[in-house]
Amino acid sequence: MLNRSGAVTFCNDCFLRLAQLPKEEVCGRNWLDGIIPSAEIDTWKAAIQSSQRDGPESLHFEGHIIPREGPSRIIQWDTISLRSNGSDTPRLAAIGRDITHQRALEAEIRQSQKLDGIGRLAGGIAHDFNNLLTVIVGHASQLLEDTAESDPRHAPIAAVNSAAQGCVELTGQLLAIGRKLRLRPNIVSLNEVITADEVILRSLIGDGIELIIDLASPLPVVFVDPHQIQRVLVNLVTNARDAMPLGGKLTIATSDIVIGEGTTEYPATIKPGRYVRLSVSDTGTGFTDEARTNLFVPFFTTKRPGKGTGLGLSTVYGIVTQSGGYIMVKSEANEGTRFDILLPASSGV
Ligand SMILES: Nc1ncnc2c1ncn2[C@@H]1O[C@H](COP(=O)(O)OP(=O)(O)O)[C@@H](O)[C@H]1O
Ligand SMILES: [Mg+2]
Repeated sequence: MLNRSGAVTFCNDCFLRLAQLPKEEVCGRNWLDGIIPSAEIDTWKAAIQSSQRDGPESLHFEGHIIPREGPSRIIQWDTISLRSNGSDTPRLAAIGRDITHQRALEAEIRQSQKLDGIGRLAGGIAHDFNNLLTVIVGHASQLLEDTAESDPRHAPIAAVNSAAQGCVELTGQLLAIGRKLRLRPNIVSLNEVITADEVILRSLIGDGIELIIDLASPLPVVFVDPHQIQRVLVNLVTNARDAMPLGGKLTIATSDIVIGEGTTEYPATIKPGRYVRLSVSDTGTGFTDEARTNLFVPFFTTKRPGKGTGLGLSTVYGIVTQSGGYIMVKSEANEGTRFDILLPASSGV
């Protein structure tokens, strides 16, 4: 509640908790003096002015509260002019609703719809392209077999053949992005998949990086295609390696997770249930929030041409979602990155 000059005449405990301020620091203080962000002062001035006019004028606007600690909260404000008994100077009553969580959820849904759209496009093209490619690859390899190495046509046919093989690899990635892979799921132990891939992963990262494998046991089984999970691991580990040019620590871990109704630790879009979590974390460069929104978009790369194709994480995203799982990422610039993949625990044994 604000008086005509903007001084706070009343506020409830809920607001104090949100702003992390003691009552003494809010009541009596001017609302425009450091409680709300300076960019929103004009909006509030207009609201206070309108409260002084006659008539029940209510305003609705979005603003922010910056708590003492932690990120700012997004608030939906509804304000109205109140005239208490016996007083002729009206006051401004402002009722705020913290919509930070709702906004985050909306952003998540928008992002996943965007990725779905791009994925569908990529998958659709890849599917038709793959059919044509089967003809090219089939004939090219047959021709190559039928042509002696001494034949001058051998080298160009070999070049066509190897370019066609490159296309097969690329369409494979696009099919994964479009969630149109022909998955061969099996009931598998994720720990066993990781252990089986350990040699490949170690050879990928080289000497300067320490690899820690931390597997929870016992762990529920999952119903996934182990070859695609290997692809996921290879992509995540390659990215982690690239983010640590000066060396560092790469951890691959598994754990058994139960997500209940109303769990706040995980995004609200995740269905409650039991999951196996696969985490790949590094102590590398990390990335900014801006990069974060584009991470899973096909062809997004911050690497030099020839170094990165930008298809790694979109492939991972496609495989994980086609397998009924979820992927999350946490990162701070210069503080490393952590990818968490949740795969639904299977009831099979
Ligand atoms: N572990 C990581 N640490 C820092 N940045 C990363 C990490 N993984 C991915 N990225 C960022 O995401 C971008 C996209 O990754 P990806 O889709 O695998 O494509 P590419 O590796 O070909 O660039 C990378 O270029 C990089 O900027
Ligand atoms: Mg990559």
